[in-house]
Amino acid sequence: MDINKYEPKYRVKQENLLRLTDLTAEEIFEFLYAAKAMKKKFRVRESSNVLHGKTVALLFGNASTRTRVSFEMGIRQLGGDYLFLPKNETQLARGESIRDTAVMLGRYGLSAVVLRAFTDEQLHEFASYSEIPVINGISDQAHPLQILSDLFTIWEVKGRLDNLKLAYIGDGNNIANSLIMGCSKVNMDVAIASPHGYSPAQQVVERGMQYGDVLITDDIAEAVMGADIVYTDVFISMNDEDDEEKKRKLSRYRVTPEMLALAKEDAVFMHCMPARRGEEVAAEVIDGKQSIVYDQAENRLHLNKAALTMLIK
Ligand code: CP
Repeated sequence: MDINKYEPKYRVKQENLLRLTDLTAEEIFEFLYAAKAMKKKFRVRESSNVLHGKTVALLFGNASTRTRVSFEMGIRQLGGDYLFLPKNETQLARGESIRDTAVMLGRYGLSAVVLRAFTDEQLHEFASYSEIPVINGISDQAHPLQILSDLFTIWEVKGRLDNLKLAYIGDGNNIANSLIMGCSKVNMDVAIASPHGYSPAQQVVERGMQYGDVLITDDIAEAVMGADIVYTDVFISMNDEDDEEKKRKLSRYRVTPEMLALAKEDAVFMHCMPARRGEEVAAEVIDGKQSIVYDQAENRLHLNKAALTMLIK
């Protein structure tokens, strides 16, 4: 389906946003059109009170710059309020159950909760007991807000989504999983190059293959050849800080100018950030003219605002 021929309704049936597997192509388009509308209003400084009287809890289990600031600023810009709750300052850190936390948070007048750095199992358990919308701000298996925002950025830059090829180089992590689901659902080809033992989860690959063309390889050139977008992430994701074996295996999976030259001439470079120049990406690439990483980071704001307004009914 072509996003440019889609007529948006600016609503979705979903109660939560946990993973892209749960969304149809049409629902992905709804989030992207809503983000486009939010960005247009932001550019002309049009004020909004759509979240007036609403408070969103941000229950975060790890460090964050983009996700935290884009939610806090986005909620303010929509006239709402937020509670930032570091997970280790709640009773969750002392063993209180996910169930008790989810039920109790629904009793204080909150309108939604964003969970960050929970496992997918905890996230789904939380959502099953929650009376308010639950949004995944990154889990061990998925980063849906990031990839929706990235699809919005790609649509802005390339003018379309279908029949583009995205090559992801590096760890088969939550970003790779969500790219597979997001790209395949909107008819983009996706190629993932990872070292043996670090490929994306098999069930995600099989699911993605039901919707689109998904290539899993350990050959960087095979993945990047003819790509419209080259994407990477840090070698070491959350909770893997001391994994020296993983760092060693991934050290060849770097985006360099030579590698980027294998992609199409007008290819763009993307990174969800934070980035480590000289590790997964050369400074000449991320700071070069093909890089769109700052547009990508900005669009987290517009996409998060879109997600909040569509999920808080
Ligand atoms: N990409 C991303 O989630 O950034 P933060 O870790 O800074 O939130």
